Amino acid sequence: MRKEILKLLFTADDFLSGEQISETLGISRAAVWKHIKAIKDEGGIIEAHTKRGYRLVALPDLLKPDYVGFFTQRAADIVWLREVDSTNEYAKRMAREGAPHGSIYIAELQTKGKGRLSRGWVSCPGDAIQMSMLLRPEFEPPKAPAVTFAAALGVVSAIRRTCGIEAKIKWPNDVVFGGKKLCGILTEMSSDMDRVEYIVCGMGLNVNQREFDGEVAEKAISLRMASGKKQDRVRLAAAMADDVRAYCERYILQGIDAIFDEYCANSVIIGKEIKVLSGNKTVTGVCSGFSKQGELLLDIDGKTQAFMAGEVSVRGMEQYI
Ligand code: BTN
Repeated sequence: MRKEILKLLFTADDFLSGEQISETLGISRAAVWKHIKAIKDEGGIIEAHTKRGYRLVALPDLLKPDYVGFFTQRAADIVWLREVDSTNEYAKRMAREGAPHGSIYIAELQTKGKGRLSRGWVSCPGDAIQMSMLLRPEFEPPKAPAVTFAAALGVVSAIRRTCGIEAKIKWPNDVVFGGKKLCGILTEMSSDMDRVEYIVCGMGLNVNQREFDGEVAEKAISLRMASGKKQDRVRLAAAMADDVRAYCERYILQGIDAIFDEYCANSVIIGKEIKVLSGNKTVTGVCSGFSKQGELLLDIDGKTQAFMAGEVSVRGMEQYI
């Protein structure tokens, strides 16, 4: 019922009286008031006027399907969690229990968020988006790494159309702006020798943080810091669900050629001199592009060396990128 009331308020051009709502939905005015209060308790802003009724000013800033669903057709695929260890771990548990292709897990808070190369990932409740998408592509394991290409394109597209910010991609797994990281992507897979069982693609997007502390400040940025204004997490999460899914589908169904040129056009490292870090070894060269399996191609003194994403990190010569 709460969803129906929200829908009426969301689609109304003006105030809606308690009477109009109660008649349309066949519930008492006391029940309408109870639901309005619950929406306000979750942080929604609803203007109440004795004569004119109620007007929705802002949805609650929570990534529940009830709210995100106003901006995406994918609401039925979304599972919202107030708190979880890691959305990637949760998605893998659900995958083992048979959850379908396209399931999306969003958490407000992760207590054991995971980054690449066994690093942690700190989530900022209320300020970031932590989302994992479960995919069950019918292809061989070597095709899995380039799922990160598709997911990165989806994140870039969601950011562009929701916030108007021209984000770029830093191979293998970052979406960046102004040389700093906006979003990290962690792609994990379960497979046997010749078939993928499932892939979990997890994304952590910095949205409304005002600043970062210490070392993180040198390499991280949020959409709010990039744009100078607070951004709508609910619309962003919906756009991410749609665009990441769309690019991943395109890759799964049509192959790497369907996304490769767009990926290269959005890369921030092609043609740049970069450092590739592997354990305590660093090599320097110019990024000449990527292989269609998702490797980085580095020109080192005229010779090309390929690097797999699982092993290395990339840095700019002077700064993060
Ligand atoms: C990285 O940059 O190292 C990757 C970070 C990935 C973080 C996201 S947040 C949602 C999902 N759940 C996790 O535990 N990690 C990913």
